[in-house]
Amino acid sequence: MRLVPPRVVPPAKPLGRLAFAARFVRNPLEVVPREAYEADFFRAEEGAARAWVMGPALLKQVLLDEREKFHKLTQIRLLSPLLGHGLLTSEGAEWKWQRQACAPMFRHHDLLGFVPVFVRAAQGLLARWRTPPRSVQQVDRDITRATFEVISATLLPSADATIGPVLEQSIATFQRSGGWAQLYASVRAPHWLPRPGISAGRRAVVALRAAVAALIRERRAGGGPDDLMQRLMVARDPESGQAMDDARLIDNLLTFYLAGHETTARALCWTLYLLSRSPEWSAALGEEVARVAGGEPVAAAHIERLVLVQQVLKESMRLYPPVPMMSRQAVADTTLGGHAIRAGSSVIIPIYAIQRHAARWEDPHAFDPARFAPEREAALGRYQYLPFGAGPRICIGMAFAMIEATAILAALLQQARFSPAPGPEPYPLARVTLLPRGGLSLRVSFK
Ligand code: HEM
Repeated sequence: MRLVPPRVVPPAKPLGRLAFAARFVRNPLEVVPREAYEADFFRAEEGAARAWVMGPALLKQVLLDEREKFHKLTQIRLLSPLLGHGLLTSEGAEWKWQRQACAPMFRHHDLLGFVPVFVRAAQGLLARWRTPPRSVQQVDRDITRATFEVISATLLPSADATIGPVLEQSIATFQRSGGWAQLYASVRAPHWLPRPGISAGRRAVVALRAAVAALIRERRAGGGPDDLMQRLMVARDPESGQAMDDARLIDNLLTFYLAGHETTARALCWTLYLLSRSPEWSAALGEEVARVAGGEPVAAAHIERLVLVQQVLKESMRLYPPVPMMSRQAVADTTLGGHAIRAGSSVIIPIYAIQRHAARWEDPHAFDPARFAPEREAALGRYQYLPFGAGPRICIGMAFAMIEATAILAALLQQARFSPAPGPEPYPLARVTLLPRGGLSLRVSFK
């Protein structure tokens, strides 16, 4: 049966300045123009400070070939109050050495060693959902908690009791001020302008950084196990031989916490939503998991054999990319597809629209995991599907996230089935990540 799940419909006519700003605050996906779903390049008028880039060759130019001309100024402006100048929020040489220092922590083979942690998180979810008498569960909230436990247990096992609750609370507060922060960052408003929620956001950041600083002091005094924090503390800049100072350590720990749990939670959440509406794929996945894992707990050796599970995850991240938009700012004059781009202007990469582009996807809004069957996936262009970005700044946690999501989804499907609960359909809402507006409740039943 053909399933076309809820989507954002582009504005019928071009938006004026005020309408653009109002919609942007409400949901940045609602300002994505119709052309973003149909053209390779779009600008409201020649010379405008904002250009939308969707064509594969142009994306390659921005993200790979001419990346030194396109920096992440807006993202850095938006996130640096929280994440300082860590891996996600730095540029140039500063970025490069941090990327080199962090890369060894994400080797595929080592990541497979985390599968038991991922499966334990899924079992924790199942135990919570089994508790009578409720069968309707707030899936988005519970999954976010589970992926948070995973990131704590894999990256900083010694710390969860200390900073877990502070971190969770502060991130929620920061998130609530997100819509405004994004708008102000993109129009480069002066800092003194009043912004709803901004002082709560600032307080959350101070509390969060203080909690992590305390943890680092403790560690410096006493040593500790071989976790991410330890590895970051001993990492050295290959050129200068310098270690990370405390501020940079805090930046990166928070970066991994923040970038590493919410995104994966969104991917899982939208996937369960889609499965709840697709009995066929739900049954196919249930059969695959039974065939591959039998009655045993999902293990590292099963991951690559869970082919359909991964197909569904990929299709879910096509329709609902956890990071729905990226942007870059030109730091030098250049051209893109014959259009002059002035230094200081923004290039928006609307992943959400690119992955539903009429020229490159058949029946683009329909849920069809068969698009990612191995032989068909191999034929996809590198820049038409980019939930993890592309080029040298591609998500460093991509393999981590795929293994984690596969293991958790398979472990859930070994025991549970998901079906619709009463209430409105979830609607995609872009904050920093793509949320189901109003949360996601599903009926969970057990075999
Ligand atoms: C489904 C899950 C995930 C999605 C969809 C996702 C998506 C992305 C995207 C699109 C970018 C590129 C942003 C840009 O170029 O502007 C990115 C970067 C990044 N991600 Fe992920 N991510 C996921 C999971 C993770 C995990 C699990 C971690 C860490 C454990 C992580 C850590 C990072 C970091 C540190 C960067 C910055 C890399 C750099 O600039 O060198 N992500 N992610």
